[in-house]
Amino acid sequence: LKISIVGVPLDYGQSRRGVDMGPSAIRYAGAVERLQALGHHVRDEGDIHVSAVENKPNLEERLKNLEEVVKANKALAKKVDEIVKEGRFPLVLGGDHSIAIGTLAGLTETYQNLGVIWFDAHADMNTAETSPSGNIHGMPLAVSMGYGHEHLTALFQQRNFIKPENLIIIGARSIDPGERHFIQKLGIKVFTMHEIDKYGMAVVMEQTIAHLKERDVDGVHLSLDLDGLDPLYTPGVGTPVDGGMTYRESHLALEMLQQSQCITSAEFVEVNPILDEKNKTADVAVTLMGSLLGETLI
Ligand code: ARG
Ligand code: MN
Ligand code: MN
Ligand code: MN
Repeated sequence: LKISIVGVPLDYGQSRRGVDMGPSAIRYAGAVERLQALGHHVRDEGDIHVSAVENKPNLEERLKNLEEVVKANKALAKKVDEIVKEGRFPLVLGGDHSIAIGTLAGLTETYQNLGVIWFDAHADMNTAETSPSGNIHGMPLAVSMGYGHEHLTALFQQRNFIKPENLIIIGARSIDPGERHFIQKLGIKVFTMHEIDKYGMAVVMEQTIAHLKERDVDGVHLSLDLDGLDPLYTPGVGTPVDGGMTYRESHLALEMLQQSQCITSAEFVEVNPILDEKNKTADVAVTLMGSLLGETLI
């Protein structure tokens, strides 16, 4: 595989500083070397430029740092689009989860029926009206389906929004009332921790892969928020929620995606080295990349 790595040192989509250092932490944990060892051709494209927020009071509290988030995502969308058009696999390193807006906007320039697997403790489907926090990292899925502030939805070409039927959320255990309403209204497929406990990760992934095949998708993006795992394994995240997926369950999920050969792009987000223990969370991100992109035990 020809892989292009892009870092997005953005932490304006939420309220705890430090997740902008995620790309460095993941590189330091050996992402490039790990993927090269699997025989991939890896090109590190460096980081998207993120402008410093001016120290003025934030007027639009319901959408914190809106213009900075828009600007970085616009640049990211352009970069991801270029990578796809060059025939390379985009691997995006966050940064907070608001960067999924730019990644998905870039991908959908080419993929017209994209499938999305959202591995996360959260649904990230708020709008300014439903958000309890005003943090844009809780909104990218709503935006990618066409709901939210017009400066955010405008990053997508109108016809390119993600179709609700093409979206699967895995690992959810903290869903806000407005998000629940959205999930029910749009009929979005969600495997919460309840289903993972009850049926096991293997069944959940078989159903996920079968569903996307049925939908006849032309590509599948994996958006992996490290807070999807239990904070025992990934403590370096800004919004940890207990009761998450284990290290082994997460690896199994990504190994099954590798075997299915369906994934065409990926992003690993929310690694915050300031909140971490000796870079543990970035280390886990890199081992997960290994599983997704071809590592096997023998
Ligand atoms: N639902 C909460 C909110 O909207 C938390 C979102 C957390 N999102 C994340 N990508 N970690 O504020
Ligand atoms: Mn910062
Ligand atoms: Mn999350
Ligand atoms: Mn998230």
